[in-house]
Amino acid sequence: MILAFIRSNKGENKVMIYEAHRLKRLPPYLFTIVDNKRKEVMAKGADVIDLSMGSPDQPAPKHAIEELCKQARIDGNQRYSRQDGEVEKKLRQAIAEWYMDRFGVSLDPDSEIVPLIGSKEGIAHLSLAFLNNDDIALVPNPAYPVHFNGVIMAGGILHNMPITPENNYMPGFDKLSGDLIKRAKLLFISYPHNPTTQVATLGYFQEIADWARNKDIIVGHDCAYSDIVFDGYKAPSFLQAKGAKEVGIEFHTISKSYNMAGWRLGFCVGNKDILKALAKTKSYIDFGIFRAIQHAAIKTLLGPQDIVKKTVATYKRRRDLFVDGLNEMGWKIEKPKATFYLWTHIPAKYSALTSMEFTNLLLEEAGVAVAPGTGFGEYGEGFIRFALVEREERLKMALGRLKNILELET
Ligand SMILES: Cc1ncc(COP(=O)(O)O)c(C=O)c1O
Repeated sequence: MILAFIRSNKGENKVMIYEAHRLKRLPPYLFTIVDNKRKEVMAKGADVIDLSMGSPDQPAPKHAIEELCKQARIDGNQRYSRQDGEVEKKLRQAIAEWYMDRFGVSLDPDSEIVPLIGSKEGIAHLSLAFLNNDDIALVPNPAYPVHFNGVIMAGGILHNMPITPENNYMPGFDKLSGDLIKRAKLLFISYPHNPTTQVATLGYFQEIADWARNKDIIVGHDCAYSDIVFDGYKAPSFLQAKGAKEVGIEFHTISKSYNMAGWRLGFCVGNKDILKALAKTKSYIDFGIFRAIQHAAIKTLLGPQDIVKKTVATYKRRRDLFVDGLNEMGWKIEKPKATFYLWTHIPAKYSALTSMEFTNLLLEEAGVAVAPGTGFGEYGEGFIRFALVEREERLKMALGRLKNILELET
């Protein structure tokens, strides 16, 4: 795509500027397409119930907001963040305490923790830190898009591992050829999983840690939804598996557990050599996190954790209401054990439509915005994802509208 025409002073010469090839290799960002469509529908005066993006709608902890305001007024906090600064050290210690409390895994704050400007940033930079042009990254598909887009932007070779209901949304390793494994340098996994909501056992993580160790493959586990769990399920950490720290790292975020998505703070923990390369990559690109946000994150991680329980209870009520409502209208779906998403097949009556076409139908006819399964990769075809990030009254309204337009058999 030509981005700009620049005219010379005389107005004669045209300079054509093109996007870099690496951007052309990226798949279209379907969420932007859905979002533009949503705006179009809204501009016509329609009320859209937005269940498309995983952007939490519940409030951030009050004590975090108060700390942010207080710290934002302090002069020293306006300067660039430094790895050896006081608040930076305190944040890494707070992360180590949080991690020990959640998972019982001990981390060295100085070498086994790297704070991030959101986990998305770290996931993208992991590929940049390790992939050469002929290195392969193994990425389950469907996935949170930065898992594969980060690989493409880094210039690596993407190898999709289909995850479907047939394999329980767990990538199979026995089908990978010896040559592929030899050239593979990175494996991304993520449980509880976005978009499929699948959860994993520690036993599964152990299998992956054992498999990767013999093959010199880095495992990057994206654990963004570790706190959003229901019905007594507890999400394990990859680092709880024996030997996992030798091969892997794990990404966490305050975005989902504490409703602080816009604050941009996540962290990566685990193998110190992998983290060193990640930190080195970042040091050429960013200057870390605003110090006032780091102070607020410390309060968040070490302060009262009842906000997490409250947040999860709200998502559970929404999940129950929405899944029951879908089942009642004839759209059969089970209750997920984790995340605030519902991942579901397009109803059989509409199976002639692609997930993008079905998404458009829901938006245009019902004023309900959802994410098309193919936004998460080709193996998401035939599915859509609801993000339960609207209040119960709005969810009930969405159910009513869906029932009216879909007219499914009950
Ligand atoms: C699986 C997964 N990982 C990472 C992220 C990004 O989180 P952050 O806000 O920390 O960048 C998301 C956001 O939706 C996600 O679903």
